[in-house]
Amino acid sequence: MKKVLVTDPIAESGYAILEKAGFDVLDYAHSAREEWMSVLPEVHGWVIRSGSKPDEEALNKAANLEIIGRAGVGVDNIDIPTATRLGIIVMNTPAVNTISAAEHTVGMILAVSRHLAQGHESLNQGHWNRHALVGTELFGKTLGIVGCGKIGCEVRKRFSAFGMNMIGYDPFLTQKDFNINELKMVDLDTLTQESDFISLHVPLVNETKYLFNLDRFNMMKPTARIINVARGGIIHENDLATALNQNIIAGAGMDVFEKEPIDENHPLLNIPNCILTPHLGASTLEAKEGVSLAVCNQVRDYLIDKKMTYALNNPFEKK
Ligand code: MLT
Repeated sequence: MKKVLVTDPIAESGYAILEKAGFDVLDYAHSAREEWMSVLPEVHGWVIRSGSKPDEEALNKAANLEIIGRAGVGVDNIDIPTATRLGIIVMNTPAVNTISAAEHTVGMILAVSRHLAQGHESLNQGHWNRHALVGTELFGKTLGIVGCGKIGCEVRKRFSAFGMNMIGYDPFLTQKDFNINELKMVDLDTLTQESDFISLHVPLVNETKYLFNLDRFNMMKPTARIINVARGGIIHENDLATALNQNIIAGAGMDVFEKEPIDENHPLLNIPNCILTPHLGASTLEAKEGVSLAVCNQVRDYLIDKKMTYALNNPFEKK
């Protein structure tokens, strides 16, 4: 009987798919790395989210592993070159989290522009300081979307209803891909200089690591705000803290961090114009259910029929 290891929390319906297909499911969703590392040599499939790290050390132990299924989009936690070399297929579920991530971005931009978290917290502290928490309207402001794929496009649609001007930057897309009245494509420097709000929707790869650092924050308007619901590491967090503390920019909303969970002395904690959430972009009932169903169906189909859906590599010698 083939074994499937689960090392991050997924919805129950996903487990049911794997069990119904006759796999022995090893549930280590709430276990420490040392615990699941010991069972890696026995497993054929491995289901993860962003909390587990299939790195070189782990993959070298996984002698029978055929497939890693990532319930979600981001695969920066997976050592794909090593997986490829070892004949292990890596798949993700790119379509399922889109709406949840876009809606969380809407929430973050509204929260940052209208000081929602700070207002709530001030009431908890017994203050009624409405004059200290004057916000800014979105109407007529410019939203710069960095990464104009699925999530970026859903964000654009939602903020066009607010009457915002939309500009976009994407290294793989041009103006031919968009109606200029809906999204004007510009280069990254222009987007950085002209936006009132910047929202990031790119993966973390070498080219996007620290894409927003102090040099780039210095190019932004002092009234501008930046939102990251994409991936930790695209923003240089120490530089962002400096930019906020020195009023180089006006605010930030961060859902993702270079190291998660963040440390208790993280530089962005307790900065008044910075709102933080603990990687909630895809944390909705709908997205959790959707990615679990999708990834478990994909893992089942690969282990039984070698069927590939949303494969991110194609090892020359598959197991
Ligand atoms: C994703 O990449 O799909 C989301 O960030 C959710 C997650 O990491 O689990």
